[in-house]
Amino acid sequence: MNLTYPSSLFSPAFSIALAETWDHLAARLHRKMALAASGTCPEKKQKFFPKLDQQETPSNLQTPVSSVAESVQSFSHQAVLAEEVVAFLKPQSGKIFFDGTLGGGGHAELLLQAGARVVACDRDPAALAHAKKKLAAFGDRFVCFESNYAEAPLHLVAMGISQVDGILLDLGVSSHQIDTPERGFSFQKEGPLDMRMGSSGRTAADIVNTGDLAELVKIFREYGEEPRALNFATRIIRERHHQPITTTLQLASLLAQGMRSGPRHPATKVFQALRIAVNEEINSLESALPQLADMLASQGRFAVITFHSLEDRIVKRFFKKHAVAEIDDPTWSAPKPNPEQLFHPSLPHSVVADAAELANNRRARSARLRMAEKL
Ligand SMILES: C[S@@+](CC[C@H](N)C(=O)[O-])C[C@H]1O[C@@H](n2cnc3c(N)ncnc32)[C@H](O)[C@@H]1O
Repeated sequence: MNLTYPSSLFSPAFSIALAETWDHLAARLHRKMALAASGTCPEKKQKFFPKLDQQETPSNLQTPVSSVAESVQSFSHQAVLAEEVVAFLKPQSGKIFFDGTLGGGGHAELLLQAGARVVACDRDPAALAHAKKKLAAFGDRFVCFESNYAEAPLHLVAMGISQVDGILLDLGVSSHQIDTPERGFSFQKEGPLDMRMGSSGRTAADIVNTGDLAELVKIFREYGEEPRALNFATRIIRERHHQPITTTLQLASLLAQGMRSGPRHPATKVFQALRIAVNEEINSLESALPQLADMLASQGRFAVITFHSLEDRIVKRFFKKHAVAEIDDPTWSAPKPNPEQLFHPSLPHSVVADAAELANNRRARSARLRMAEKL
């Protein structure tokens, strides 16, 4: 038995029992899958390999890596909650906005069309190349640079911009990133297990092939809210003893083995969790919010679109903490003014997409726009 469970999680006796149970179940499952794969029992084949006929063939592994130029031409991303963002940010001539997640430039374009100036960044060189081209007609009203939005204030100050009238963060990945197999974000398309939005740092393959059990379980639980985190982490560790896990479909099919087919692919949450871990999305958000809030002018507006309950909670708590006018403590005789108040207390907390947008754009399903206005 070469699995090791962290002593902080389980007692040694429980670890051994758990591992033995797992071995036993896995052996039974492999016997059943071998029978199903042999095709002698069609119902079993359908149960274990429901998507077999639609799966990509190994030849897809040889898809050539597209150049940034090709990917710029084929860039597609539909901006979510666009009307709501524009209505809230109130772009107009003479105002300057910071877009920290430029992506396909959809939101930035609307701000520019309303006459405002936009300074934007993205970690992804392909997104920047596309947006530069798309928004070139706006001349020097549009400027963009490659950066994590958490490091953008340094760049803005270096450019002589110490305050902005509005800020937009539209978190997560773009459709273009998901739809480009070579980026490794999708469990439906074969590609290298990469998932980096930028061009440096650990890849998803690095995490999957070197992370210990405790790290993998933590990532899948915290960032994916995956109830089968331990099961999936254990499978990964067993598999990589045989061969490294290097591609998206290799990981997706490992996680799908023996799982009932449901509305969601069993790998959905693990892929989301790995993407968040690879790109350190939570750290970036937590470190950026206070820095960016400092850069907002008085009456400046801060809009954040989230797609995940963890990031949404972070934004909600940040806005709430800095929007309450008074704080109280049982030991005080009366409430005191909140020394950390930055925002007006009266704004609506959040909006989600309406039925028309939901019918039109699947990505809008989990989108929530949170808003705050500086005092
Ligand atoms: C949902 S898309 C933005 C789409 C954009 N609002 C539009 O209308 O086309 C998110 C973009 O943010 C970028 N991104 C995510 N996290 C980032 C970060 N910490 N710093 C900079 N860019 C980031 C991604 O590379 C991606 O291009």
